[in-house]
Amino acid sequence: MKLSRRVQQIEPSLTVAIDTRAKALKAEGADIVSLGAGEPDFDTPGPIEDAAVEAIRAHKTRYVAPDGILPLKKAICAKLGRENGLRYEPDQIVVTSGAKHAVNNAVAALVDPGDRAIVLAPHWVTYPALVKLYGGEPVVVRTSPGNGFHPVAADIERACGEGAKLLVLNSPCNPSGAVYTRDELRAVAELCVRRDLAVISDEIYEHLVYDGAEHVSIASFPGMAERTVVVNGVSKAYAMTGWRIGYTASPRELARAMARLQGQTTHHPATPCQHAALAALEGGLEPVERMRRAFERRRGLFVSELRAIPGLAVPEPEGAFYVFADVSKWTSAPDLPRRLGSSSDSGSVALCEWLLEHERLAVVPGAAFGVEHRIRFSYAASEETLLEAAQRLRRGLAAVDGILR
Ligand SMILES: Cc1ncc(COP(=O)(O)O)c(C=O)c1O
Repeated sequence: MKLSRRVQQIEPSLTVAIDTRAKALKAEGADIVSLGAGEPDFDTPGPIEDAAVEAIRAHKTRYVAPDGILPLKKAICAKLGRENGLRYEPDQIVVTSGAKHAVNNAVAALVDPGDRAIVLAPHWVTYPALVKLYGGEPVVVRTSPGNGFHPVAADIERACGEGAKLLVLNSPCNPSGAVYTRDELRAVAELCVRRDLAVISDEIYEHLVYDGAEHVSIASFPGMAERTVVVNGVSKAYAMTGWRIGYTASPRELARAMARLQGQTTHHPATPCQHAALAALEGGLEPVERMRRAFERRRGLFVSELRAIPGLAVPEPEGAFYVFADVSKWTSAPDLPRRLGSSSDSGSVALCEWLLEHERLAVVPGAAFGVEHRIRFSYAASEETLLEAAQRLRRGLAAVDGILR
């Protein structure tokens, strides 16, 4: 069977590769500590699970409209008004099978072959992959560790060149944890209006912000609602990763196009899961706040453990649940991959492979996010796991020091 050129050019995800290897080692009985996965380790709150069971018992198990059930779309509009100061009507909402699917729909609906889409690095692995899948050209604009990986409007504007069509934003950011400020977003919004850029704003980590940081939606600035697709969902905030419910809020015409696309592809996310998401959004933010406080405690603990490791530079993340640590002390060593026995030409990949093989610690290389000399750790794990991970990392890096000496 001859595969399409489209699927052949999808690069294998480094995150998935590390995760697959970690699972294989675990299946062989290895004691793996994993800070690789980007998902809360909490159970979905009970009332949300109950709502899904009730929906099944009430036989709410049939096909519904491709863009989702009306009560959920109304609840999403109410949430966007209440929490984000955004005004949407239900016919501007498309309920999707997770936020990843929401990004997919938006890219499919906006990007034609040859279109340029600006992505800020470090970036979630999926954005450039989807732009390429639909024939577009990702234009990667690096943000600087010197200013906490925050966006600089002038850098984005320079990358617009001739005819960039789309900008993908993600605040709070996976992997850097940066939470973009109101002033930064205002400047980016002004440039989007000036340059007539469409925006996909992935706000899936909006509730996970710390130290008083404020999440602001770029869609709230003048002239932006009509050019922005807000992407969000219940996965991260409500510990509902496996339920696969996300959504877009967008201009009407685009919503209609994405609903058409869904109508011909996945039709709609599972009906009982939509009822669970409805219960989540109507149930208030108390469980979200409880989990946020736990992540904040873990962040404090993990960052201080990592900062005690000589040579590791660890910025304090402002949001999400990742630490994006600087490992350049090791990865900038000449010829690191060869010296660690890796076939990769990336230092961060070689180091992560080595940590997995020798310390049984699964973490994600910066290369997966378009930035070298970094490792991403998820602190959505128990305190015990975080302490054990820090210990393994300290031992592993000391052993790599020995190899490099
Ligand atoms: C930035 C970002 N957007 C979207 C997603 C996917 O969310 P969902 O599980 O709802 O598809 C993730 C998950 O890792 C993410 O990090």
